[in-house]
Amino acid sequence: MDYYSTKVISNKKIAPNIYVITIKHLGETIKPGQFYMLKVYDNALPLLRPISIYRINEESLSFMYRISGKGTTCLSKLKSHSDIQLLGPLGNGFPCSQVKGKIALVGGGIGIPPLYETAKLLKQMGNQVDVYMGYKDILFGFEDFEEVSDSIFISSEVGNEGYHGFITELLHPQDYAAVFTCGPEVMMLKIKAMCDEVNTPIWLSMEKRMACGIGACLGCSCKTKDGMKRVCKEGPVFYGNELNY
Ligand code: FES
Repeated sequence: MDYYSTKVISNKKIAPNIYVITIKHLGETIKPGQFYMLKVYDNALPLLRPISIYRINEESLSFMYRISGKGTTCLSKLKSHSDIQLLGPLGNGFPCSQVKGKIALVGGGIGIPPLYETAKLLKQMGNQVDVYMGYKDILFGFEDFEEVSDSIFISSEVGNEGYHGFITELLHPQDYAAVFTCGPEVMMLKIKAMCDEVNTPIWLSMEKRMACGIGACLGCSCKTKDGMKRVCKEGPVFYGNELNY
């Protein structure tokens, strides 16, 4: 698998420091929860950034990202019709065919976008899908979820909109057949502990710094009960009981 070029269709700011880049889809099959490595250039220096898939359409793919350094700053400057290089889809994605019934998807901040296609597929498969979205302050990207979920729960830590507090305070894992989560590690580990207490299966999408994205550098390893595993290759989604935290 190698990097290939495609065209940027649009690259829009949707909230402070939050952008959605849409590129031409060349037809590859993608599972919700997978990611791509996006290559951008700072002068002539290539920078690689792993970004999860947000929306998949026949003609286009979208990625929602937060500006958090040089790579994402360069990414935000790409204009429509620019060329972009990417590698993917990478990783395993959420195991949608392994769950059935009433499913909770819990996202925090920029961990929310990968849940959009996950919710859509789970609904298409006949499940009941409740989406929980936790924000620090400003809300973004939640509107789209209405079309792919049964219920939406929103919280913000500053409390300007939605429930004032943490999203974990709204979740009752005992009500669900399974929980998928993506977001800050501290939030996901809290949810894992809540699920463990009531024996609700949980899958977590882990985030680590990635240099290669293809399993070669071992820089993204995380501890599991079977030893160290690469988040980019064996993950990013891990079954809760598999993780050693
Ligand atoms: Fe290199 Fe995962 S980023 S092994």
